[in-house]
Amino acid sequence: MKVTAVLLAAGQGTRMKSELPKVLHHLNGKPMLWHSLQALKPVSTEKLVVIVGHGADQVKDFVGDDANCVYQEPQLGTGHAAMQAEDHLKGKVDYVIVSYADMPLLRGETFQQLLEIQKKNSGPISMLTVIADDPRGFGRIQRKPDGTVAAIVEEHVATSEQKTIKELNVGVYCFSADWLWDALSRIQKNQQRGEYYLTDTVELAVKDNLTVEALLLEDHLETIGINTRIHLAEAEAAIRQRNNQDLMLAGVTMIDPDSTYIEAGVTIGKDTTVRPNTYIQGTTTIGEGCDLGPNTHIKNSQIGNDCQVFMSVIEQAQLEDNVDIGPFARLRKGAHLMDHVHMGNFGEVKDSVLGPGAKIGHFCYIGNANIGANTNIGAGTITCNYDGFKKHHTEIGENVFIGSDTMLVAPLKLGDRSRTGAGSVVTKDVKEGSLVVGMPARAVRNLEKRDTN
Ligand code: UD1
Ligand code: MG
Repeated sequence: MKVTAVLLAAGQGTRMKSELPKVLHHLNGKPMLWHSLQALKPVSTEKLVVIVGHGADQVKDFVGDDANCVYQEPQLGTGHAAMQAEDHLKGKVDYVIVSYADMPLLRGETFQQLLEIQKKNSGPISMLTVIADDPRGFGRIQRKPDGTVAAIVEEHVATSEQKTIKELNVGVYCFSADWLWDALSRIQKNQQRGEYYLTDTVELAVKDNLTVEALLLEDHLETIGINTRIHLAEAEAAIRQRNNQDLMLAGVTMIDPDSTYIEAGVTIGKDTTVRPNTYIQGTTTIGEGCDLGPNTHIKNSQIGNDCQVFMSVIEQAQLEDNVDIGPFARLRKGAHLMDHVHMGNFGEVKDSVLGPGAKIGHFCYIGNANIGANTNIGAGTITCNYDGFKKHHTEIGENVFIGSDTMLVAPLKLGDRSRTGAGSVVTKDVKEGSLVVGMPARAVRNLEKRDTN
């Protein structure tokens, strides 16, 4: 059985008041369209089709290889939009799901269920319906005594009695493909509005005595359609809540899910706790047993097991296991903190590796550096990595003790077990096991050579 879906995304989205095409507005970190494609991919055996119109180039750029984009111009209604897919799909698929790209909360499971119903249906259409108090301009559903669909009554033609019907047309259908192409060639342009309505296919089927099945959705949140930025915020909250619930069911503790912002695609291991006002974004992965937040921002980073991140900002960084940072630590691109690194308040690390057990207690900047195992970096230490033209590297060995307020003027090497005195400005390499002090720091003595006097 060959199955695919056609996503309608040609509409302008005037009410968004935006330069950006509606379906590219972000929801929980990903464009609206991404959510629909993600839900439909597992149900489809063939490449998806996206009908584009307004902002077509931008939408196509985003879609890339994930679907075939078909241009609809002019936009003469939902039926006309579906017609545009015919050339791509005629004779190639058995079932076609038609959905809207501005309904990003519809789940993959829902599309799958709709397809299963259509596979068993002797007639050509199965459609989604929902019962809701607020009709939002949706078409009303009339059912036959046997429970199959008798008609969709669009709001603008509904009588006041029909308007009280609570079952609504979501606008999502699964069609038997061959029948659909034929039906689309038979529907007439609506005289008042000059549009071809996809809903007219339902009327045709009923007229031909063919069965139209309906799947009544339980979770009405799935049918949030986005027309304004108010709807966008509602959908954002619903998608975030759904994602957070999935994570909690998988073993993640959230002190306050409503103020916990975790983007789609982030993975978090079990027994990790996420505290309020924490944002975890992009390609981030987090291990088990961590304690993150509150007031923390983590983006495109990898965090191992049993780490603690307290009120800190982490971007494009890697923390191995048992790392503890914060409050007010900032890790930037290429910061790599190995096992048991401790970093306290007001430190910044960029493009640097901190070896196992290294410690940075307070106030410092480490950039373009390697720091060996168990080295202690005193408060106020700075790697002076930039000379105004180029970045230079600092290499610090193992078990080194950097005194408070040391300026390490790169390029520079400090050997294992060396020490710097407080306030030193180090401009020359420091030998293993030796102590340097002063400004610029001068050698005082070799700490490891026995005093023979
Ligand atoms: C449609 C249904 C209605 C249903 C409602 C649910 C019809 C005639 N009516 O009404 O029964 O309750 O959806 O949301 O189908 N689009 C295109 N090209 C077009 C026109 C629309 O791609 O030429 C896309 C839009 O971008 C939008 C979607 O189709 O994503 C829905 O179009 P819209 O005009 O908003 O239909 P409704 O009037 O809401
Ligand atoms: Mg609409």
